[in-house]
Amino acid sequence: MTGLFITLEGPEGAGKSTNREYLAEQLRAAGVDVVLTREPGGTPLAERIRELLLDPSDEKMDADTELLLVFAARAQHLAEVIRPALARGAVVLCDRFTDATYAYQGGGRGLSVARIATLEHFVQGDLRPDLTLVFDLPVDIGLARATARGRLDRFEQEGRAFFEAVRNAYLQRAASQPARYALVDASLPLAQVQQSLDALMPQILGRIHG
Ligand SMILES: Nc1ncnc2c1ncn2[C@@H]1O[C@H](COP(=O)(O)OP(=O)(O)OP(=O)(O)O)[C@@H](O)[C@H]1O
Ligand SMILES: [Mg+2]
Repeated sequence: MTGLFITLEGPEGAGKSTNREYLAEQLRAAGVDVVLTREPGGTPLAERIRELLLDPSDEKMDADTELLLVFAARAQHLAEVIRPALARGAVVLCDRFTDATYAYQGGGRGLSVARIATLEHFVQGDLRPDLTLVFDLPVDIGLARATARGRLDRFEQEGRAFFEAVRNAYLQRAASQPARYALVDASLPLAQVQQSLDALMPQILGRIHG
């Protein structure tokens, strides 16, 4: 039995967490075994690594340190949560995964794709998401939503150019492998975003039962 691995991607404020809950409700209503999780984090140890990654600190974090922490958390998350859930046939809905590493550490920090791909293979082997929803929206709208939420984390304190690079990296990845990605216009009102998710449900259910 192998489940289905679905990841939700996009910048801060795009609506990943909001819509992850919505998708989970729809899938559960259809009788599907759903596991909700997130990165960085998803296990107690990986959540401690998340704090290291997100908490602003006086010491500037080296970009390679950041990359290795992201993948250290991911190794733990895969071992403890994602692989066991997929093995029992569950649908895993994960808020951010390795596409975020290509977008933030690659696009944002400027680390090479080759360096990230090496670690991706080291940590994941051949495991890749079956489907990745990219919640896309103009940088200003996302930042306004995230800022309205309160205190900014270490990434949210970055400048505009960083977030433009993050957005571009996501769009490039989605365009390069259209079969694995679904681009969602996250600038629309929530009801319309959820309509576009409803439209994806037959495809998702078809992959589970098909
Ligand atoms: N389509 C939408 N229109 C307007 N507001 C929205 C929409 N989607 C989400 N929001 C609001 O924007 C804020 C951010 O949404 P959410 O937390 O789901 O984003 P996120 O992608 O998970 O962000 P982060 O990466 O920072 O966790 C929330 O207050 C949410 O209610
Ligand atoms: Mg979120």
